[in-house]
Amino acid sequence: MTDDILTHRSQTPTLLSRDRLPVDGEPEILSLRPTRIDEYIGQAEAVETLKIAIEAAQMREEPLDHVLFHGPPGLGKTTLAHIIANEMGGRLTITSGPALEKGGDLIGILTHLEEGDILFVDEIHRTPKTVEEFLYPAMEDFAVDFVFDKGVHARSHRFRLNRFTLVGATTRVGLLTAPLRDRFGIFRSLDFYNTDDLVKITTRSAALLETAITEEGAMELARRSRGTPRIVNRLLKRVRDYSQVRGDGSIGFSTVSAALALEGVDEAGLTPLDRRYIQTIITFYSGGPVGIEAIAATLQEETDTLVDVVEPYLLKIGMIVRTSTGRKAAEAAYRHLGFRVQQKIF
Ligand code: ADE
Repeated sequence: MTDDILTHRSQTPTLLSRDRLPVDGEPEILSLRPTRIDEYIGQAEAVETLKIAIEAAQMREEPLDHVLFHGPPGLGKTTLAHIIANEMGGRLTITSGPALEKGGDLIGILTHLEEGDILFVDEIHRTPKTVEEFLYPAMEDFAVDFVFDKGVHARSHRFRLNRFTLVGATTRVGLLTAPLRDRFGIFRSLDFYNTDDLVKITTRSAALLETAITEEGAMELARRSRGTPRIVNRLLKRVRDYSQVRGDGSIGFSTVSAALALEGVDEAGLTPLDRRYIQTIITFYSGGPVGIEAIAATLQEETDTLVDVVEPYLLKIGMIVRTSTGRKAAEAAYRHLGFRVQQKIF
């Protein structure tokens, strides 16, 4: 099962399989990603924790403790895994929880890891339970336990692994089992970026893309990117296209406004799906409370997409609230979509 695995040695990725290549245009974004920890902008506390842990591990000539990153998509979990591998000088192998269907899939990967390698498991909360059980001895004792035969004839054999670092990423830390969660020595939640940090990321990316951008242009793009570096970098490329074709190639406030309007990104940085989500709660369910399954059914969207991608930012900016009886639209959501605020709600 090597289909979903990428292995990278130092900074030049070697592709074992092309299967993961098209996922959210990742290889393109990769070129805008920082490769060293000192280049990383934002997430100050997580970065400081990692810097200390990396330096200490290097001083002791030991592998880094296992690391778990939690947070919405696009905030840098994969980027940090690449950075950890670069800083520690190990190879990076990438896989994901749902790709590990059988114990053998994981064992195949684990037994090929060299001393100091990094194994990145994205969406680790979706690892099947039977596979997860192989992770426990692998993380704790750097070993896999094979069981031969069944019942009274069952015998087990312990196979030693090279010492490696597991970097897990999850959008739903609550779905991780306690035994798995407790085996990570370092746990950091990544939060949405503030506008200042996104301006810095925009300016850095524009320089890498050799595109001129004004301060006002960078500010507007940062303000409308849902606190997310992956979105800022994606939109920067669309604005650059727009400016090249409809403008003079440079990016100012008005180019950003025009290009984002064309992308369906509104003044608050909300996407068409964000607006449909809010509108559904207000118009179909009288402002809520309403369960997520009902909203998903009305929108004909996956519940996971709404919970992982749409809701975290809307909760962060106070457009919705989550109560024990379901989701409710907040005053800000009514105002944003131009509805009259319902009196009895708050
Ligand atoms: N590109 C994407 N995320 C970044 C970050 N956190 N710092 C610098 N550049 C980035």
